[in-house]
Amino acid sequence: MDIIIREDYEQMSRYAAEIIAGYVRSKPNCVLGLATGSTPIGTYKELIRMHQEGLDFSQVKTFNLDEYLGVGMDLTKPYDMDQSYARFMYEELLKHINIKKDNIFIPDGHTKEPKEFCIRYEEEIKKAGGIDLQLLGLGGDGHWGFNEPGSSLASRTRVQALTEQTLDDNYEAFYKKANIDRSQMPFFAITMGVGTILDARNVLMIVNGAKKADVVAKCLEGPITSQITASAIQLHRGDITVALDEAAASRLINAAHYKHVEKMRRQHGL
Ligand code: GLP
Repeated sequence: MDIIIREDYEQMSRYAAEIIAGYVRSKPNCVLGLATGSTPIGTYKELIRMHQEGLDFSQVKTFNLDEYLGVGMDLTKPYDMDQSYARFMYEELLKHINIKKDNIFIPDGHTKEPKEFCIRYEEEIKKAGGIDLQLLGLGGDGHWGFNEPGSSLASRTRVQALTEQTLDDNYEAFYKKANIDRSQMPFFAITMGVGTILDARNVLMIVNGAKKADVVAKCLEGPITSQITASAIQLHRGDITVALDEAAASRLINAAHYKHVEKMRRQHGL
């Protein structure tokens, strides 16, 4: 696991975007797993900038981690009324790059058959050849996607009920700004499972801010537990990169060691 600590959010975002761009350059038809939330916005901005300088997404496929159930991109609603992750992805990244519409996969929050949809989503990932790099954030309660505490670490794409903490966090970050009442927030979501995420060949997790420092330490240095579903990162078999800003890394016991490892690797070209 490469734990990379950068001074601030901008530098962390640039680092993460560079890793993603590396996959796109070395495998133009790569399959990327994408995430939502406030954390990846800086990374997406950087990718858009790289695209304007020539980074080509024309053969890239993307699969999003999750979507609220009961919402989905609704073009009849003004942007600030539509809090779907689909809309978020279009606004923050997808409409700014040359990705083909048919190559974009986001769970359908409007589906009337969620169970069947989840099975099909897993099949689509398989059909695409699996995910080369999964981008991940970290929820305040330690979740990946919407895999709330108690989710099996072998879980697959499914419907998941959200915790009060997740509802509070996402209310603050998104719904409040849109003047949507907390009671109107969707309580269920479709999410890739922890097992689905562990199947991605490589993972890149990004976390910033002092508010997440405790949960980052639990996730990376604590026991692997279904109470912090992102702690399953410790089980991953591929290339694992965790990019943090100093604030998010501030409770890590071994932060100095991680920094030293990065320095040595750079010095030795490893
Ligand atoms: C949501 C998403 C997660 C994301 C998390 C953190 O719950 N489902 O995939 O990692 O929020 O969000 P933020 O980056 O806004 O802190």
